[in-house]
Amino acid sequence: MVAEDRNYQVLNTEQAKEIVWNDLTGQLDSMEYIAFGLPEINDRYDIWNVPVLYKKEVIGEVAVDAYSKKINAKRSSDICVLKGRIDKVNRGEIAAAQKRPRKKETYRISELSSKLIKGRSELVLKQFPEQCVDMIFTSPPYYNARKQYSEYDTYEDYLAFIRRVVKECRRVLMDGKFFIINSSHVLVPRASRNESSSRIAVPFDIHQIFLEEGFEFVDDIIWQKPEGAGWASGRGRRFSADRNPMQYKAVPVTEYVMVYRKKPAVLIDYFIRNHPSPEIIRASKIGDGYEKTNVWYLSPARDKRHPAVFPKELAERVITYYSFKNDVVLDPFGGIGTTAKAAAGLDRRFISIECSGEYAEAALADMNSVNTFVNPVEFEFCDCSSLTDSPEKSGYGLHELIKMLEKKGVSGEEVADLLRKEYKDTLHGNGQEA
Ligand SMILES: C[S@@+](CC[C@H](N)C(=O)[O-])C[C@H]1O[C@@H](n2cnc3c(N)ncnc32)[C@H](O)[C@@H]1O
Repeated sequence: MVAEDRNYQVLNTEQAKEIVWNDLTGQLDSMEYIAFGLPEINDRYDIWNVPVLYKKEVIGEVAVDAYSKKINAKRSSDICVLKGRIDKVNRGEIAAAQKRPRKKETYRISELSSKLIKGRSELVLKQFPEQCVDMIFTSPPYYNARKQYSEYDTYEDYLAFIRRVVKECRRVLMDGKFFIINSSHVLVPRASRNESSSRIAVPFDIHQIFLEEGFEFVDDIIWQKPEGAGWASGRGRRFSADRNPMQYKAVPVTEYVMVYRKKPAVLIDYFIRNHPSPEIIRASKIGDGYEKTNVWYLSPARDKRHPAVFPKELAERVITYYSFKNDVVLDPFGGIGTTAKAAAGLDRRFISIECSGEYAEAALADMNSVNTFVNPVEFEFCDCSSLTDSPEKSGYGLHELIKMLEKKGVSGEEVADLLRKEYKDTLHGNGQEA
């Protein structure tokens, strides 16, 4: 017994219940109808969790510290919540809600066929219906901190762009399914000999975006490359020569493969039990030799047609672990189609979106090559490069709209003048100046 092994002061369920009974007695108007479910030990926090029942309905949980016998308020339902639920039970709301027949969930099978798409994913994805893809794996474009090479004016613009794509991806992803994203920190080279270089923790900022956009964090997988792969970054060279403390800089040989699930996240078991084809579930089972830890050793990939491809084996692992056969796998930053090729080879359907014509066509060439697959793969190639941003529909904020207008040659002053003229009445009404 954990309780004895750890010398807990609260040794059994009866003691745990008694502590909660005494605590609630002082706080609830009446203890009539209060009862308890079966208390359980949570040995991570050394607490007993005691379910609280009112008229046989569960109304919350109280945690008892197993060593001090005190109530752990942080891990317990608030007393106001318990009181509110008691009122609800009395009004018959909970019972009535439970009696209401639950809408029967139908297992969604996407009707999409495989597609290679040339276009910008933030626009292309808007053409897709809600909940039509089963899994997303991608590696976003790199943020280049050097102004002259960067597509984005600022790092904030870059993150705003990533957020737009994540939002659209969430819309098209089925509830409870996985979005896996590979990224790494970015090195900002020093501007002069008197300054030092710095790094931007891009995966951590992207992580925040995922949480804010309705994803649940599942895993951080570290993709570890051989040591030689990191020296190209130039990091660690100075230290290697001088060996002075504080000049130490680790040579980066890892990237993040962050795993998220779209909320609401129903039990995974739901997808396994309710899948219409038991054969697909059987055929999708993962064989021996799978990765058991969150550190995956893989050599980086090289392709002279694209500077930032990831290894096909990385895509294959992710697809095998997070999707079933025949599922639709989306890569919104498809590059030369590594995810698409891995998906097709594993009997999944794919949607690969890439804005550069050069890379999209390289993906098309590979897909059409007789050497890529054992069996021919069916897919269509769609050119959506004529889709353009329409500011009214884009979901841009004011800041981004002004930036877009500035890029088109309209100065900030002119934008401000237009706003003043357009919203004169409103602004004066509020007594504000533009
Ligand atoms: C890191 S690379 C992905 C490479 C890919 N994993 C592969 O193995 O080929 C990111 C890709 O996103 C593309 N990209 C950038 N912005 C995009 C957008 N708005 N829509 C679609 N693709 C975009 C870039 O052209 C680049 O090919």
